[in-house]
Amino acid sequence: MMYTYVHGGDVYTASGKKNLADYSANINPLGLPQSVKKAIVKSIAGCADYPDPFCRRLTEKLAGFLAVPGEYIFFSNGAADVLFKLALALRPKKALLLAPTFADYEKALRSVGCGIDYYLLREENNFEPQSDILRQLTPDIDFVVICNPNNPTGKLINKELLTEIIAKCKKLNIKILIDECFMDFVADENAYSMIEKLPSNNNLIILKAFTKTYAMPGLRLGYCLTADTDLLLRLHECGQDWNVSVPAQEAGCAALDETAYVKKAKKLIAKERRYLTAALNRLGAKTYGSEANYIFFKLEQPQDLKEQLLKKGFLIRSCANYHNLNGNYYRIAVKRHAVNIRFIKALKEVQNNALINGDN
Ligand SMILES: Cc1ncc(COP(=O)(O)O)c(C=O)c1O
Repeated sequence: MMYTYVHGGDVYTASGKKNLADYSANINPLGLPQSVKKAIVKSIAGCADYPDPFCRRLTEKLAGFLAVPGEYIFFSNGAADVLFKLALALRPKKALLLAPTFADYEKALRSVGCGIDYYLLREENNFEPQSDILRQLTPDIDFVVICNPNNPTGKLINKELLTEIIAKCKKLNIKILIDECFMDFVADENAYSMIEKLPSNNNLIILKAFTKTYAMPGLRLGYCLTADTDLLLRLHECGQDWNVSVPAQEAGCAALDETAYVKKAKKLIAKERRYLTAALNRLGAKTYGSEANYIFFKLEQPQDLKEQLLKKGFLIRSCANYHNLNGNYYRIAVKRHAVNIRFIKALKEVQNNALINGDN
């Protein structure tokens, strides 16, 4: 049996298309910053040595940037890699996951035989978790993941509710992972990030990455933060010592200086998200109010929307393979205005063709 890849960003399978616009992976629309490109090129000479196994320079820089102790940080080969190491280090028996959410939580947990309970997000609640999630935090659960903002919905969890969830996890000694990989694109991210709760809570782990914020998915650089020093030690013991390459460490150091670039991206995303959402709504799609750099929508016709858009050079993410969703749901990244205009035009054409061909 062939292995199935389930995520967005598969430009290789779709590579027959010239000028393919990838709306299926949610990365910073401004692309890799110049300074990061330069740092990668400069790092080539350093590739003749093994990378620093403790990512010392990067750790110091990130600790200053986030105002957290350097001892709280564990770097790895992308945020996804951290998930697999966390699963190995913690070996949870039973986890609670939201549905729909990012697929690799389940993949990583299943790889160590962990059982999964789901909290089903409901469309009538705009896919936002409600207080009934607290009832599913029972003593048999030992691991919970909250993706905030959630992938694919782009929704933030209510801050008071998240605070209650964290408190209940502490009481029941449940490890809670909050994935903030898309938090940097949220307008008021400091109001929602739980980083400041780390020192007072050893059960809390926060996942972040350079991937989306600095448009570097090809380089692989992610990390988690926790005050649990035993867990940090086990994370190091559960994998190789050189899991962050020399170019990735150098790129990370350069990226952290790019504050103006991130600010510019946030402004662009807020504006273009409004543009795309309004256009999608005009074309009959239902949207749910994303706070992130992507938009989740429901469109019942045409059923082969992804294939039709691909023919026009636009790769989108069908959400059919997310638990608790079906083939009527899609996710698109927020990109720059010129390409967004072309995207909406292509969507209109696809819909008109479907009408002419009587597909509706
Ligand atoms: C919510 C979320 N967390 C983590 C990841 C993995 O990020 P990385 O590319 O840094 O491994 C993704 C990738 O799509 C994601 O959507």
